[in-house]
Amino acid sequence: MKTLPFKNGDTMPAIGLGTWKSKEGEVYKAVMEAIRIGYRHIDCAAIYGNEAEIGQAFKDAIESGLVKREDLWVTSKLWNNSHRKDQVVPALQKTLKDLNLDYLDLYIIHWPVALKEGVGFPGSVEDFLSLDEVSLAETWEGMEQCVDQGLARHIGVSNFSMEKIKNLLTTARIHPEMNQVEMHPYLQQNVLLNYCKNVNIHITAYSPLGSSDRPVHLVKADDPVLLKDETVASIAEKHGCSPAQVLISWAVIRGTSVIPKSVSPERLHQNLEAASVELDDDDMAQISELDRHFRYVNGSTWVREGAYYTTTAELWDE
Ligand code: A2P
Repeated sequence: MKTLPFKNGDTMPAIGLGTWKSKEGEVYKAVMEAIRIGYRHIDCAAIYGNEAEIGQAFKDAIESGLVKREDLWVTSKLWNNSHRKDQVVPALQKTLKDLNLDYLDLYIIHWPVALKEGVGFPGSVEDFLSLDEVSLAETWEGMEQCVDQGLARHIGVSNFSMEKIKNLLTTARIHPEMNQVEMHPYLQQNVLLNYCKNVNIHITAYSPLGSSDRPVHLVKADDPVLLKDETVASIAEKHGCSPAQVLISWAVIRGTSVIPKSVSPERLHQNLEAASVELDDDDMAQISELDRHFRYVNGSTWVREGAYYTTTAELWDE
């Protein structure tokens, strides 16, 4: 398995397991099966509402000798309602308690969006905090305390544009080492990818399969279906593999980490096996033609008249 190297010598397995949308009652089995068949990178988040169940799987997998803690890479994310500096360490402590861990490999700011304490998702404009009130620089100071206290080995961000990273780098004491963003052939983000490479920030590609199980409010009738793309299908046929494996292999070849979500034992296996699918230059050239800057997760949840972001263009700095 290809790995992403970090400055302190740590390595992150390129293919990880996504757990967004993995339901309670399903995610324990999925994580246990994933670890059993060789996944060593699990991507979590407090807002997914399933960290306690994943934590039970970590506990059972480690106690039964299936895996050692130090051989797992575990990522989690700070939710938008805990962006004040003094809220960050307590939020991580809650995640660690749920996950049955005493440290994370990577903790990242989930969105460049601040909500009032206790708010899960915004019902009205009143639920937001302005980033003038709680800046991303302030939140980052809280993230740095997580490293200082040994609770997170690495820190980073998610859903950050190049411009937001540039701003963060002007104040950061500890360098961010990851930006987790939506990335797949319909949203290739070459400029962001190259910029992050140049400033030593790795990319994790989320929704790499086009998140067909995304919440209904994110689905529009004419959304393209990535897993049914004809070019991807023809490349899959050529290699005798599945379209999902082509998409995962593409992400790995581009030097990113990638976190396909599955709760099906067969698909968990298939997705991990994508590590051995070798796309050639012709395949990569064909896929590069598919870019259409299409977001499945378009950030509209964070945009509101009277809120800090009034358009998605502001959120993404586009
Ligand atoms: P399931 O969990 O039942 O396997 P993404 O990672 O882009 O968010 O996509 C997740 C969606 O893709 C889920 O609906 C998941 O279903 C499905 N999926 C995961 N792996 C595969 C695969 N190898 N082939 C087809 N669909 C897959």
